[in-house]
Amino acid sequence: KLKPPYRHFLDLASLTKEEAREIIEKAKSLKATATEDGHGKGFIHPDRPLADKSLAMVFEKPSTRTRVSFEMSIHQLGGTAIVLQGGDMQLGRGESVSDTAQVLSGFVDAVMLRADDHDSLLEMAEHAAVPVINALTDFSHPCQVMADVLTFEEHRGAIKGKKIAWSGDGNNVAVSWIHAAVLFDCELVLACPKEFSPPTQVLEWATNNGGKVSLTQDPQVAAKDADCIITDTWVSMGDTDGAERIAILSPYQVNRNLMRQSHKDSLFMHCLPAHRGEEVTDEVIDGPRSVIWEEAENRLHIQKSILMWCFGK
Ligand code: CP
Ligand code: NVA
Repeated sequence: KLKPPYRHFLDLASLTKEEAREIIEKAKSLKATATEDGHGKGFIHPDRPLADKSLAMVFEKPSTRTRVSFEMSIHQLGGTAIVLQGGDMQLGRGESVSDTAQVLSGFVDAVMLRADDHDSLLEMAEHAAVPVINALTDFSHPCQVMADVLTFEEHRGAIKGKKIAWSGDGNNVAVSWIHAAVLFDCELVLACPKEFSPPTQVLEWATNNGGKVSLTQDPQVAAKDADCIITDTWVSMGDTDGAERIAILSPYQVNRNLMRQSHKDSLFMHCLPAHRGEEVTDEVIDGPRSVIWEEAENRLHIQKSILMWCFGK
C-alpha cells in the first residue's frame, strides 16, 4: 500500500548496507546541526524538513527513551506527534491492527509502533498507507541498535572490522545487533546460555549474508579482545519467567572481570533501562568505558534520520 518514496522501517535485515550507512551519516549531520551554538532541546531545524508531517506513536508496552526521543525528533524536524497508549485505544478492546492501520493512515503521515507481538508490526505495515516504524517488538529493536552503532563510531571511528561482544539474553536487542553486524561488516560474538540463545533463523540469516556472527556459552570467549561489550536486561517486558532467567543468566553479568578480557580501549553499552547488580555492576555501568548516556541521547539523533529516511528525504 505504501507509495514510493515512502518506506517502512521494520527491521535492519530489510535495509541495504548503503541505506543503513546513509541513515548513520545523516544522523551525524543532524546531530551536528542540533547541538551547534548550544541550541536548546526544543530547537527546530531551520529547514523544517518534516514541517507538514505528523507521527502517531502507539505503545503497547512502557517506554521512557523511545517515547521522549521520538516526540522530540519530530518536533525538531518541524512536525507533530501524537502519543497513544495501546490500552487506551480501541485496539485494547479488540479492534484489529489492520483496521487501526487504515484509520491512522487517514489522520497521520507515519505510525511508530511498540508492539507486544512482532506480527502486529507486520500487520500494521501491511495495511497502513503511511510509513510504519518498529519502536521495539518481542523480536527486534532496530532504532536502538542504529543509535548504538552511531555511538560506537563517535567514540571509536568506523565499526567495520571491529569486534563487538554481547553477553546475556539473546533477546530483541541482540537480534537487531545480529542484523547490524551484517549491515556494518563488524564481528559479533554473542555469549548466551542455550535456554536464551537468539533465534536460530536469525543466526542462519547472518551466515547466509556473509556475516561474521558467532554464538558461544562462554562470556570470556565473547569478551576476549572485544572493542565493545554490550548487555541488556535479563527480564524483558512481557517475560513471565523472571526468577528462572536471573538464575540461568547470572554467569553472564558484565563486571570488572569480564571487561578485563576486552581490548584496553573497549566501550560498554546498554540500551537501558538497566537492572544494576544483575546484568551489569555499578562499577562498569558508571565506569570510564561506559557510554550509556550518549547512547540514550543518540536515540534522538538517529530517529530524526530514520524519520527522514521513511519520508524519502
Ligand atoms: N532503550 C529503550 O528503548 O528504552 P525505553 O523502553 O525507555 O524506550
Ligand atoms: N529487551 C528489553 C529492551 C528494553 C528497551 C525489553 O524488551 O524489555
